[in-house]
Amino acid sequence: DIEQRIDELLIKMTLEEKVGQMNQYNGFWDVTGPSPKEGNAATKYEHLRKGWVGSMLTVRGVKEVRAVQKIAVEETRLGIPLIIGFDVIHGYKTLSPIPLAEAASWDMDAIKNSAKTAASEAAASGINWTFGPNVDISRDARWGRVMEGAGEDPFLGSQVAIARVKGFQGDDLSNPLTIAACAKHFAAYGFAEAGRDYNTVDIGNATLYNTVLPPFKAANDAGVRTYMNSFNILNGVPATGNSFLQRDILKGKWGFDGFVITDWASIREMIAHGFAEDGAEASEKAVKAGADMDMESHLYVYELVKLVEEGKVDEALIDDAVRRILRVKFELGLFDDPYRYCDEKREKEIIYSKANHEAVLDMAKKSIVLLKNEGNLLPLKKKGQKIALIGSLANDKTSPLGSWRIASDDNTAVSVLEGMQQYKGNTLVFEKGADLTIGKTTFLDELVFNTTERSGFEAAKKAAKEADVVVMVLGEHGFQSGEGRSRTNLDLPGLQQELLEEIYKVNPNIVLVLNNGRPLALPWATENIPTIVEAWHLGTETGNAVAQVLYGDYNPSGKLPMSFPRNVGQVPIYYNQHSTGRPTNSDNNVFWSHYSDVEKTPLFAFGHGLSYTTFKYGTIKLNKKTYAKGEPVKVSVEVTNTGDYDGKEVVQLYIRDIAASLSRPVKELKGFELVPLKKGETKTVTFTLTDKELGFFNNEGEYLVEPGIFKVFVGTSSADNQETEFELK
Ligand code: IFM
Repeated sequence: DIEQRIDELLIKMTLEEKVGQMNQYNGFWDVTGPSPKEGNAATKYEHLRKGWVGSMLTVRGVKEVRAVQKIAVEETRLGIPLIIGFDVIHGYKTLSPIPLAEAASWDMDAIKNSAKTAASEAAASGINWTFGPNVDISRDARWGRVMEGAGEDPFLGSQVAIARVKGFQGDDLSNPLTIAACAKHFAAYGFAEAGRDYNTVDIGNATLYNTVLPPFKAANDAGVRTYMNSFNILNGVPATGNSFLQRDILKGKWGFDGFVITDWASIREMIAHGFAEDGAEASEKAVKAGADMDMESHLYVYELVKLVEEGKVDEALIDDAVRRILRVKFELGLFDDPYRYCDEKREKEIIYSKANHEAVLDMAKKSIVLLKNEGNLLPLKKKGQKIALIGSLANDKTSPLGSWRIASDDNTAVSVLEGMQQYKGNTLVFEKGADLTIGKTTFLDELVFNTTERSGFEAAKKAAKEADVVVMVLGEHGFQSGEGRSRTNLDLPGLQQELLEEIYKVNPNIVLVLNNGRPLALPWATENIPTIVEAWHLGTETGNAVAQVLYGDYNPSGKLPMSFPRNVGQVPIYYNQHSTGRPTNSDNNVFWSHYSDVEKTPLFAFGHGLSYTTFKYGTIKLNKKTYAKGEPVKVSVEVTNTGDYDGKEVVQLYIRDIAASLSRPVKELKGFELVPLKKGETKTVTFTLTDKELGFFNNEGEYLVEPGIFKVFVGTSSADNQETEFELK
């Protein structure tokens, strides 16, 4: 049994070897090449041979992984295998849509399958462990990392967290096509002030317990094997040194028995936070707070042995951390065969396989959201039309891959132009109008946008003028969102807004296809452009997915997982807000909660998304009007496809606890179902609400279900639904 094997191993380990297990290094040299003689890489190499490295990240490919594993297994005294980590965020080589886009599918089977596909590719490449899913809830579109999460809602976020954990890990971690998952970033990283990455987080307990923690708890319940802590402070304490989060809640209350990895250098960053004087103090605080493995701070390896010898850190804490790390290594089967993930034949067969292309295409279509569809432009007719395709992003094979895709190859996405060229019955003319960026576009560089070079405008206008329909692909470059990519504007960067308005003057029949990694604020486009399709960054099969949706071969059913603001000043904007004391204009004067220059509602609400068909909702029915505590509340509604296409509708259920011991949000998502409906078909959808959905956490973290009146809303989005109510006795 695993625990016994760990006991046997721990007895044999020296303190140095134990601390070595807690040390993770970034991939440092071309492992299969000559070993480095000096510098950082040489030191890492030396540490690896001494058994002072327990894990490595970003080493990839069977050949490279085998080479580092061989050193750990054959050259160290105890031969403990490494666990190889990697950021498999939305695919490995064959890329699925960015996670925010996947969340827009509200299709948990598809999301699970997407994670499974990603896991199989990464595992085939020698990787054992992904730093995902990112389960950070965020209400701030300025924060670039919203692209990695599931949006603003803890209920949807929890379902997505479960789907991803199960997809990555499968039922059996020792299966060489699965990898260990990592719920990150623990905790509250998505609440960085003003959306500026790495910034201070200062939220109250109500938000922590009811909004931030639920997806992390759901990941634990789904069996996630690791957590990553976060860069931010929370109420003054860095997450890495936060005992309340890591020991009291995660390992205590939730009984998590896997291990916690720090974020990159976050132990060392506690010095910059002003929470530790030096590396020794930072290490002491981190290990005491429950951070088990040091990612790239290079501190545990130098400080922990001394701290134990000086009596500042109890060796039992080290033993506990090492036990957790070894447990996951045993579960992955690495002790039985350290090379079980290293099979060149499997690597060749799985990476970029036809099946994986099909899987990411399926996910990409399901992630598209039809935001607006007026004037009958979509679906496009398949014959006899002249179509002008405009915008440099339409002819880009790299940007649609999105951010956080370290293993993938540039130029491997199907562009929208290529996708549309598959439909041969129409005449298609492409004009870029203007380049979006100038200079380098890599994961590490700040992007520079073209704001002056308009020489392509005239050709684009000519093409638009001669066309029946104009398809414009505009938005953010794939690397404009992601880590370190915060923005203070949520508009179309560069010359794109100007180009859009110029084209509109010559032909207003525009289908605007958006590429973006976060909600954008596009009031002019929403007012003037008849048709808007949210196509995010959809990964490898982008062009095929977009073309199939535009041509009606796939009927979109996505719904927004984040509110789209009217302008940046509204941010943070989210549907599940609390009521103020002055929610409406009841006295007909200015003293109510509003803005004097713009409505307070979002441009597009959470849960919004159209279809080529139409759905009609019947009246909501409750099986009773009064319920005893613990009795299930059954809510049902008939939904009919009243339009001309088969389609799918995400039926959404929200509640409001009218009066409680703490103010509750005006609406909270508590159920949803993705319902396929053929033309003319009617189905009854039934939701069951139990204590799990009706309660909330108080400021001490206790879960309460309180009697009183509850409103229930059912409908097609958070802003478009009908309501009824019941009483809980
Ligand atoms: O997993 C990431 C994390 O999300 C941000 N910092 C670096 C880690 C490893 O690449």
